[in-house]
Amino acid sequence: MRVAVFGLGYVGAVTAACLAAEGHDVIGVDTDAYKVQCITEGRSPIVERDLEDHIRRTREAGRLTATTYAEEAVAQTDIALLCVGTPGHHNGEPNLRFVERVCCQIGVALAGRDEPYTVVVRSTVLPGTCERLVIPTLEGASGKQHGEGFHVCVNPEFLREGTAVYDFYHPPLTVIGSQSAEAARRVAQLYAGIPTECVQTDLRTAEMVKYASNAFHALKITFANEIGAWCKQEGVDSHVVMRLLTMDTKLNLSAAYLTPGFAFGGSCLPKDLRALVSRARQHDLTLPMLESILVSNGLQIERTAELIAQLGKKRVGIVGLAFKAGTDDLRESAVVTLCAYLVGKGLTLRIYDPNVSLTAIYGSNRAYIEREIPHIRELMCSSLQQLIDESEVVVLTNDSVCVSPHVFGDDQIVVDLARILSAEAVRGRYIGLYW
Ligand SMILES: NC(=O)c1ccc[n+]([C@@H]2O[C@H](COP(=O)([O-])OP(=O)(O)OC[C@H]3O[C@@H](n4cnc5c(N)ncnc54)[C@H](O)[C@@H]3O)[C@@H](O)[C@H]2O)c1
Repeated sequence: MRVAVFGLGYVGAVTAACLAAEGHDVIGVDTDAYKVQCITEGRSPIVERDLEDHIRRTREAGRLTATTYAEEAVAQTDIALLCVGTPGHHNGEPNLRFVERVCCQIGVALAGRDEPYTVVVRSTVLPGTCERLVIPTLEGASGKQHGEGFHVCVNPEFLREGTAVYDFYHPPLTVIGSQSAEAARRVAQLYAGIPTECVQTDLRTAEMVKYASNAFHALKITFANEIGAWCKQEGVDSHVVMRLLTMDTKLNLSAAYLTPGFAFGGSCLPKDLRALVSRARQHDLTLPMLESILVSNGLQIERTAELIAQLGKKRVGIVGLAFKAGTDDLRESAVVTLCAYLVGKGLTLRIYDPNVSLTAIYGSNRAYIEREIPHIRELMCSSLQQLIDESEVVVLTNDSVCVSPHVFGDDQIVVDLARILSAEAVRGRYIGLYW
């Protein structure tokens, strides 16, 4: 393929050299004449293992050139990868000056062109940037319509500095955001020689996944460091602890607990987090991330209560009371706290949970529920149908009950906290918590 790579920094230089090594004809573009000169002389503009060797070999093979002229590069290619910087302003907002400038340059170059062109955003940009900035700028400068004269795709970069060349050939996956399956296929062809799964999605999801990934990486490092700091105080070897923790690939290193939904609860997580934080305090140890988990979890419950209260309906039915499906354990169930909030907001509650029989629960479980919702007995329904008949809003908290989407009336509102149903399936109005 004939490819232009805009920006020859850490991402662009690696992308340009590796794509050329894969057999594509690549033109690197940078406003910085020094970087262009480096590539032209077969040198690397940055320190990165194996990169100089790739640049030299692909230069000698005639598959990698570089220029400061954007128009020249667009004229000789069919696809452009945007790898320009998106540095942060003082307030954290990304500076999109370079992205906008490149789109303007490419747009001008596209004005007199008849063949279609594909513009691929590799730079890290916040969700909505393509729709709000990239596409309108290209349209304005080219006089062409997105989807006709050109296509925009998002292909976030996951490489790590220091192992960037290796990472290019061994990506965890390749995400391609696009409104056009055909354009996404063209982008996937760039990586035809690389063993990777190409996943096509929409533009915003592709933009978002990069931020979610980087946030997760930062979270993991901070988690390990806070656990490490606590281990040190306890005289425990943190590396052994984390090695054992990561050996659990069922619950710890897996997709478990990574599905957005309602707050956590139960008899273990809140209690043990509180114990951990309290012990750290005894050591005069501040662990901001671990301390903030219960704060964040509490906010999830408040936000959900607010969402339900703002619907302006009086009668609310809660399906599923225990802290998760398949148990009758009510201790520290986030749903119980949600119910208490809703009662406090003056709403009339109905509750149904087939696993929870008030006559059968006893001990700390019973004491807990009678303390949190003293008149719980009057709120419990004996069947799902009774709850639906008596509620204007039905809140699904977990999949303890098999609920058919057809049981709701046209004027009933379904608030789904666990993605049990879908907007398309429900007869009434459907509100998903985070989807
Ligand atoms: N560095 C990383 O490890 C990494 C990894 C993944 C994603 N990213 C993202 O990729 C993007 C690029 O990061 P980077 O570290 O390579 O940036 P960088 O600052 O090293 O390189 C950007 C290059 O773009 C050039 N440039 C600016 N305006 C230009 C224009 N109009 N035409 C052509 N070139 C132009 C600059 O001169 C510079 O050489 C950022 O959005 C970054 O967040 C970076």
